[in-house]
Amino acid sequence: MKKFYVELKKVVDDSYYIEIGHDLIDTLVRDIKNGLVPSAKRYAVVTDSNVKGLYADVVLESLKEAGMKADLFVFPAGEKSKTRETKAKIEDEMLSLGCRRDCCVIAVGGGVVTDLAGFIAGTFGRGVPFINYATTLLSAADASVGGKTAVDTPLATNLIGLFNQPERIYIDIDAWKTLPKRELSSGLAETIKHAILADNEFFCYLENNIEKVFDFNTEVCEHIAEKNCEIKYQVVMKDEREKGLREILNLGHTVGRAIETVSDYRLLHGEAVSIGLVAEVKLAKSLGLASDDDESRVISLLKRAGLPITIPDYIDKCELVKKLYTDKKVRDGKLRFVIQDGIGKIKEFDDGNFAKEIAEEDIAKIIYSE
Ligand code: GLY
Repeated sequence: MKKFYVELKKVVDDSYYIEIGHDLIDTLVRDIKNGLVPSAKRYAVVTDSNVKGLYADVVLESLKEAGMKADLFVFPAGEKSKTRETKAKIEDEMLSLGCRRDCCVIAVGGGVVTDLAGFIAGTFGRGVPFINYATTLLSAADASVGGKTAVDTPLATNLIGLFNQPERIYIDIDAWKTLPKRELSSGLAETIKHAILADNEFFCYLENNIEKVFDFNTEVCEHIAEKNCEIKYQVVMKDEREKGLREILNLGHTVGRAIETVSDYRLLHGEAVSIGLVAEVKLAKSLGLASDDDESRVISLLKRAGLPITIPDYIDKCELVKKLYTDKKVRDGKLRFVIQDGIGKIKEFDDGNFAKEIAEEDIAKIIYSE
């Protein structure tokens, strides 16, 4: 019998722009009119019940006024909606309204919306383009940038998903003004994470200015939006698929994601990450990679950002330690952690490894001491 070789080597250009600014809906619609997504004949605007009335309705109407065919798909706000069930429901609605491979998904909202809508776009009709219009600090700081899309499962967060890059990202700083304070704080946790892992100067800037975010100081908000993007996209450009370096963006997330799931999403993502950052600076200290001063600076900044720094009483710590094993960095059944090296740097271990194997009892000791 013959043996065929299907040669499919690919050169892919997934480059895109991230536009940071104030009230960018007109810019989005103008870019679309000017051919941002040439294949798109219609638009599926995906959003949640909180963002619908604030921004997504305006996006929808503006697209229609500009002569484009567009429909709105809304799901209940909150992490509990980031499921395979919600994904299937929206896909069925899109199909029943006639969306096919000629559509483009526009995610309007925070991290849950951009994660879910990007995943929908990645599998709908085997893949259609998508655009992120990020309305929260959390999505600006982390979720909307870098192409990680996913849904949660009952076992843990983000276990099913795709690397899928958007056509463009719009970061609307004005939209932060409509966020509840708790959500703004949640986004600051990812911001502080970026400073700890990559930029000591940015950490000092946050120490000098963090409260100004709550007053929507334009200069401070713009600086924070820009620094978050810069730190994140520089890492993603070097290691899109998290083969090594990108793991550094997981600082605080090994403990954080586990807490988020065990709390049954009573804690917002950034709140859980904040507690995770505290546990992980203590871990760095136990390894001689962070000082007492580093620890107290991290804790003090998180507190000033309005974030929790201790594990709530309702969390079952035994369950939490078990949950650590659902982390995607686990290798060969062993826990692995990204470890900060002081403030502004991550420790690089042998062979370009940015995560270190840690014995369960070592991290459990820290969790039980909180
Ligand atoms: N949120 C971590 C990453 O995008 O890799």
